[in-house]
Amino acid sequence: KAGLLYFGAATDTPGQRERAPYPDSYPQYDAIFENNDEFGQTTPTNGQKWLFAEPEPRLFNFTEGDVVADLARSQGKLLRCHALVWHSQLAPWVEETEWTAEALRDAITRHIRAVAGYYRGRCYAWDVVNEALDEDGTYRKSVFYNVLGEEYIKLAFATAAEVDPGAKLYYNDYGIERPDSVKTAGAIRLVKMLQDAGLRIDGVGMQAHLHADNHPSADDLIATSEQYAKLVKEVAFTELDVRIKMPVNETKLEWQADCYQKVVEACVKVKACVGITVWDFYDPFSWVPDTFPGQGASLLWFEDFTKHPAYDRMVDTF
Ligand code: XIL
Repeated sequence: KAGLLYFGAATDTPGQRERAPYPDSYPQYDAIFENNDEFGQTTPTNGQKWLFAEPEPRLFNFTEGDVVADLARSQGKLLRCHALVWHSQLAPWVEETEWTAEALRDAITRHIRAVAGYYRGRCYAWDVVNEALDEDGTYRKSVFYNVLGEEYIKLAFATAAEVDPGAKLYYNDYGIERPDSVKTAGAIRLVKMLQDAGLRIDGVGMQAHLHADNHPSADDLIATSEQYAKLVKEVAFTELDVRIKMPVNETKLEWQADCYQKVVEACVKVKACVGITVWDFYDPFSWVPDTFPGQGASLLWFEDFTKHPAYDRMVDTF
């Protein structure tokens, strides 16, 4: 599609999804998902996260992650893998342990060796570190940061590089889509910090959880992508959705269509932009209404399986 390597949709394992609104929601959903003319790539929205992959120390579980990884394999979709080190959806034991630096280093290395080792050769890319930055562009005070400082980021990238040399290694975050934001500056510092340490980082993932009523322009998205592309080989929009303050009306859907269009426009124009992933495609399975009460309708298919105006706008822009 127009110079992009992929256009894809993240999907969840059935047990983790919000309940389907109709008895036949799942078959209808699956039929859209399976159509590789719609989506040539996928990402598990939850299954590979620490909480699922290592719920107890050294007890690894790939059941959830495999559901989506196997779908990717059987349907011939590219797989982005998500996420090795993240402060959220961590197994509780990681936050409950009183760590020494050495023990936490071991736990991170062990986790990455096991998880990235298990999926070795199957991930086009790994989100190695997710959301390490605060809104002001400084490091987020997670258990990893509090014990190890920025060293945990280096350790994660070094370990992932050693375990899966074929996977592209990404730093992934939200709120790093605009060229002039302090958080974007933070992401650039983080990339340089890794490179100064001689470590491999192949890409920056802009999650792109955007707002219909206040979204970046195509020029903004292009300028930001180009800033990253000066440092790394690739950029991608990894978790695109565009939320609306409910209730939905035509005007808001038009703003939303405009936003989706800008993302496609930017990715098509930026040589380093390899692809776009929407964070699921069916509104009832979106994370938005649970996390941001009063907001929703952020994806491309409504609850009744009709399409948002954004769908055609994207297709026309590719
Ligand atoms: C979300 C999932 O979609 C939800 O199902 C889950 O309850 C919380 O996490 N940034 C990320 C994603 O990197 O992993 C998050 O996914 C959304 C924000």
